Amino acid sequence: MKFPYKINFYGIFIFTFVVFTLISASPAKQEKPSKKDDSRDKKIEELISKMTIEEKVGQLNFLVAGVVTGPTATPADPAKFTSLIKENKVGGFFNTYGADFTRQLQKVAVENTTHKIPLIFGADIIHGFRTIFPIPLGQAASWDMAEIERAERVATVEATAVGIHWNFAPMIDISRDPRWGRIAEGSGEDPYLGSMIAKARIYGMQGKDLSADNTMAACAKHFIAYGAAESGRDYNVADMSERTLRDIYLPPFIASIEAGVATMMPSFNEIDGMPATGNKFMLDSVLRKELGFEGLLVSDYGAINEMVNHGVAADSKEAAKLAIKAGVDMDMESYAYLTQLPQLIKEGKVNIETLNESVRRVLRLKYDLGLFDDPYKYSNASREKKEILAKDHLEAARTMAKKSIVLLKNENNLLPLSKDVKSIAVIGPLGDNKKELNGTWSFFGNENDPVSIIEGIKQKVSKNTKVLFAKGCEINTASTELFDEAIKTAENSDVVIMAVGEDASMSGEAASRATLDIPGVQLELIKAIHKTGKPIVVLLTSGRPLTINWVDENVPAILETWFLGTQTGNAIADVLFGDYNPSGKLPVTFPRSVGQVPFYYNHKNTGRPYDESKDPNNTWKYASRFIDVSNTPLYPFGYGLSYTTFEYSDIQLDKKQINPSEKIKVSVNVKNTGKVAGEEVVQLYIRDVVGSVTRPVKELKGFRKISLQPGETQAVAFEISANDLAFYNLDMTWGAEPGEFKVFVGTDSQNVKEAGFTLIK
Ligand code: NOJ
Repeated sequence: MKFPYKINFYGIFIFTFVVFTLISASPAKQEKPSKKDDSRDKKIEELISKMTIEEKVGQLNFLVAGVVTGPTATPADPAKFTSLIKENKVGGFFNTYGADFTRQLQKVAVENTTHKIPLIFGADIIHGFRTIFPIPLGQAASWDMAEIERAERVATVEATAVGIHWNFAPMIDISRDPRWGRIAEGSGEDPYLGSMIAKARIYGMQGKDLSADNTMAACAKHFIAYGAAESGRDYNVADMSERTLRDIYLPPFIASIEAGVATMMPSFNEIDGMPATGNKFMLDSVLRKELGFEGLLVSDYGAINEMVNHGVAADSKEAAKLAIKAGVDMDMESYAYLTQLPQLIKEGKVNIETLNESVRRVLRLKYDLGLFDDPYKYSNASREKKEILAKDHLEAARTMAKKSIVLLKNENNLLPLSKDVKSIAVIGPLGDNKKELNGTWSFFGNENDPVSIIEGIKQKVSKNTKVLFAKGCEINTASTELFDEAIKTAENSDVVIMAVGEDASMSGEAASRATLDIPGVQLELIKAIHKTGKPIVVLLTSGRPLTINWVDENVPAILETWFLGTQTGNAIADVLFGDYNPSGKLPVTFPRSVGQVPFYYNHKNTGRPYDESKDPNNTWKYASRFIDVSNTPLYPFGYGLSYTTFEYSDIQLDKKQINPSEKIKVSVNVKNTGKVAGEEVVQLYIRDVVGSVTRPVKELKGFRKISLQPGETQAVAFEISANDLAFYNLDMTWGAEPGEFKVFVGTDSQNVKEAGFTLIK
């Protein structure tokens, strides 16, 4: 793939909001962390001048020494780790923790190695360390940047206390395919929302000063296009045009660079015939030279050697050469650098300056983290004791969890339930379960920590309320033998809360699914309970959108609850009983059928677009449509209900046309027309009607989360400049093209008010 033009990406996301009246959620306070100082470079150059080739290579060797998250591993033997450190053969370890254990390993490094260079400890802290927050896809549903930043802050405070310096997060892969299990780890399908969240997470982790003992280096991953794995199968090929890559997949990485992210991780997949790990064009020409990323690149787990399987390297030696030349600084768990680089240098196949540059990046990161000043500062047993599961951490987790919940349906205002209801039946395999609630990537959490759904409900209801429970079935087996008991339990209650969905292992890495159904016999269980005629609320636990058409057609109330972590039961009870009015909005499209995926709101129009509303008899042929399923999603991107209702006025524009140096003000009045206070995410989309290349039917360009009392109206305004209208033109230059634009403001990507304006030359 050739990217022939020098393009300026910056400014894509510069978007100004103007708000006339009270706005409750101010954007996250985002400041760049402080960087560099001269003494750093001096010290590092001195060190490099004294190091042998082997000692330098040792700094690039990065090994697992705790929770194993890949197919190979160094034996989990502290004696082995100690001897590797003493032999100057390791730069750091990952997925190990504990103030005492990390201190012990660090001591060996700073007392028993030639140059006394401290180790770096990395880990996957994807949604909380011990206090587990909702999975990232769930957090994204909050559209609340301040709260997401706070969640990362909490995770960072806990992780840094146990000796961790570096987090392999945020995972910022855009994904339009819910079959891909790792959609759970990201922020969904939209590049704008994904970019805002990437920044909030990085600021939460890195803070203003990377050397503080309660901040850590972030790692934006996975570069690039990992979320576009063909058929959603993990590690599969990603193949796409340069335009799609730039429009959809690169923006969160650009945002991460703007936020000062310290490190990045290339992805496992190939792109344009070359695995990302060896892709010099993507890593060097695009990421470093064009986008200006100056930080460290760490390979993914075993990814250097996997280039042999990919078929671009004959052996580990060729793989190491490809990776180091592409600019990968650290080798995670391939041992390819350790075993091959010295020889490659001696044979002149890799330049010593290439090696020095990677070592420099590793040492700079260690320096910036403050490890040369005090290698033990993060391994602090008394902080560990104080911070883990601290009260305010649990409070933050509960707030994040309730804000992540999305109300998908609420017929006749079945919700919120009264706390005085006489009897409630909790039915389903997730109703009295703790173990699954932390979700994927939560191995530092404790599976007994989460408040179960039934515990949360019991704590919330009145003393007189009877709370019954029946499991009904397992999550993913074929047995219906518990159905009868569940039916009886439902019959003895006034209302049924069904806790169904996926287990934690069904999403995350290496957890792709070919179907999006609720697993096992859970749908049959819902149908059986439905026959009792009792009012049903379905709580859906999932790491991805599921296809729930029958549930949507037949069950009056549905809440998408993702995997909510430590505070699951409390957050769900807050929402079920109206102590919190749900405000989540889907960061990803819910399809009706797996056959619709990849499915996303910002699609192109095609030459034969299909409009169902103009085809009541379903006879329209020769249109871009399916003959067996609608073109519409079950729930669109941006969708989510509230216990109150919001009314949008028509859009007001302050001009009918603008020139490229002007801005246009787009405003609406939003009124709370219901009886309770509520939060609303006001969403702004645009469409470029005619371009030199095709443009999406809608593109998110701004949003505000506002809070309204019953009867209250707020004016919400956005400003659009030519930069917000810009895209990669036919010749791949960046800019806005004169012509007609549509602008939409609304409560989700479908339900919008529309207006139009013209950009003149
Ligand atoms: C493989 C995953 O792709 C990556 O995201 C993770 O950071 C590493 N394993 C380390 O666990």
